[in-house]
Amino acid sequence: MTLLIVGATGTLGRQITRHALDQGLKVKCLVRNPQKAAFLKEWGADLVIGSLTKPDSLTKAIAGVTMIIDAATTKATDPARIRRVDWEGKVALIQAAEKAEIERFIFFSILNAEKYPTVPLMDIKNCIEKFLAQTNLNYTILRPCGFFQNLISEYAIPMLENQTIWVGAEDAPIAYMNTQDIAKFAIAALSSPEAIRQTLPIAGLKAWSPSEIIRQCERFSGRTARTARMPLGAVRFARNLALWFEGGWSFAERVAYVEVQASGLPVTADMTRTYEILGIDPEQITTLESYLQEYFGRILRKLKELDYKEPKVKSTF
Ligand SMILES: NC(=O)c1ccc[n+]([C@@H]2O[C@H](COP(=O)([O-])OP(=O)(O)OC[C@H]3O[C@@H](n4cnc5c(N)ncnc54)[C@H](OP(=O)(O)O)[C@@H]3O)[C@@H](O)[C@H]2O)c1
Repeated sequence: MTLLIVGATGTLGRQITRHALDQGLKVKCLVRNPQKAAFLKEWGADLVIGSLTKPDSLTKAIAGVTMIIDAATTKATDPARIRRVDWEGKVALIQAAEKAEIERFIFFSILNAEKYPTVPLMDIKNCIEKFLAQTNLNYTILRPCGFFQNLISEYAIPMLENQTIWVGAEDAPIAYMNTQDIAKFAIAALSSPEAIRQTLPIAGLKAWSPSEIIRQCERFSGRTARTARMPLGAVRFARNLALWFEGGWSFAERVAYVEVQASGLPVTADMTRTYEILGIDPEQITTLESYLQEYFGRILRKLKELDYKEPKVKSTF
């Protein structure tokens, strides 16, 4: 029983790889750059070089594999556009998986993808969900809302560096979850008969608004955040401007996600069925408070050891 993980170098993919290896699974990771993926090899995974944009490499990677977890997506800085990777690449992967009669296939979508057809990544996720439903695969679609790890670059680091934290005028609360916990759902889905051909939400214990997250960061860092509200019109303007530049396409497609947050509708879901089907106890799920407490505790200790001097506050206006 060999598990192929696509996107194993990513924020979520690396946690899935770690958890799969800890569970004693034989793991193969499809990677584009073996140097960047050296840590996966050190952990005990086999590496196979390839890309979602190279269908031949997918057929080779799938040889000898019984299960696949796809946690890949285009990076905002990646020149290959979302359509090429998240649509064409995923279709090629699914077709190769079907041809090879893969026993279990786990796909990561996004919660409420079907509600935002104008947001390219959401639309493509929704199309892949429909595409999977037309196959004979034993698939499970997991739909996270957001990751705790994203909050570090969005809130924690700007706060530690005395930078302004930009928040949308009416940002919706989001039920973020720790990727270490999401990895447990993904591995559990591989062996749950009830998870076959199911679409399951992955929502954290609580939906957090930006101001609530900032308050928690202030609480655990002992610092005061500098925040500024970004009007939705300004975000849309930046997006339209980016569309004029070839290299701006990826950025523009990503920024479109702001529309989801700006809807003001909480991004969360009832998790009862997910917990039941995957046999996971909600008590085991990390709270945002404990995650941020651990993060700031570790970073502030490190900064103290380095005798770090806070940067002087710079005016951004
Ligand atoms: N981030 C969120 O808040 C969020 C919320 C809901 C759902 N999701 C979904 O969860 C999944 C994981 O997201 P993430 O934030 O962990 O992603 P990430 O950190 O951006 O990692 C993306 C991964 O995909 C790989 N990749 C990119 N292009 C590829 C290609 N052409 N061929 C093969 N691999 C390729 C990357 O490899 P390299 O290292 O080579 O670049 C990397 O390992 C995605 O499906 C995402 O849509 C994320």
